[in-house]
Amino acid sequence: MGKDVIIACDFESKAKTLAFLDRFGELRPFVKIGMELYYAEGPSIVSELKARGHKVFLDLKLHDIPNTVKCAMAVLSSFGVDICNLHASGTSNMMRAAIEGLTRPDGSRPTKLIAVTQLTSTSEEMMQKELLISETLPNTVLHYAKNAKNSGLDGIVCSPLEAGIVHETCGSDFLTITPGVRFADSAVGDQVRVTTPARAKEIGSDYIVVGRPITAAEDPVAAYRRCVAEFVD
Ligand code: C5P
Repeated sequence: MGKDVIIACDFESKAKTLAFLDRFGELRPFVKIGMELYYAEGPSIVSELKARGHKVFLDLKLHDIPNTVKCAMAVLSSFGVDICNLHASGTSNMMRAAIEGLTRPDGSRPTKLIAVTQLTSTSEEMMQKELLISETLPNTVLHYAKNAKNSGLDGIVCSPLEAGIVHETCGSDFLTITPGVRFADSAVGDQVRVTTPARAKEIGSDYIVVGRPITAAEDPVAAYRRCVAEFVD
């Protein structure tokens, strides 16, 4: 899979999602489905989008005991999604169990597995004072990235600003999927550390996840094309 722009389809229903994607005609962008949409619509939203020719990142962020995650991943393996994810804080045992679950009986694993390290909504102060993790936030992110790599995962979700150091530490083929992307001339919203698609490309992100700069744009297709032009072309 090469560099690509993933649209975060943070809509509450299948109807809204499909109406939005209909505007793209034959473009068929890579899409991310999160908890809200998946819990509202169930697996049919995934099969519908796959049937329409979209690549799908199913962002459900699993985190439970290894056996439960393994069994859940075995279910997800039949969905044929391109990327799914879990929390690296579930430990290496959980991540290895997830890989086992996601691997089909014939030994193939068509779905890439990505780890969330520390959520960007967690500040270093919260992490240290509330979670009692005494390391710095960047050190924690890098350590979790290494755990994910050593457990056989394909990459992590991180800030585009961290993509370079993650590649240096875990190798250039370890995928960095990066939200927090904004056009130079658009609203930042609730994101704190943001970069433009062009800057994310320079730093080395493999995929940018873009929500509101595309979904809330007056012309979402033009905004998507602008992301692709800056990040991929
Ligand atoms: O609208 P916006 O471009 O901010 O959307 C970014 C998407 O990436 C949302 O679906 C958000 O939940 C997700 N995300 C994020 N930061 C993370 C992990 C996921 O913004 N650390």
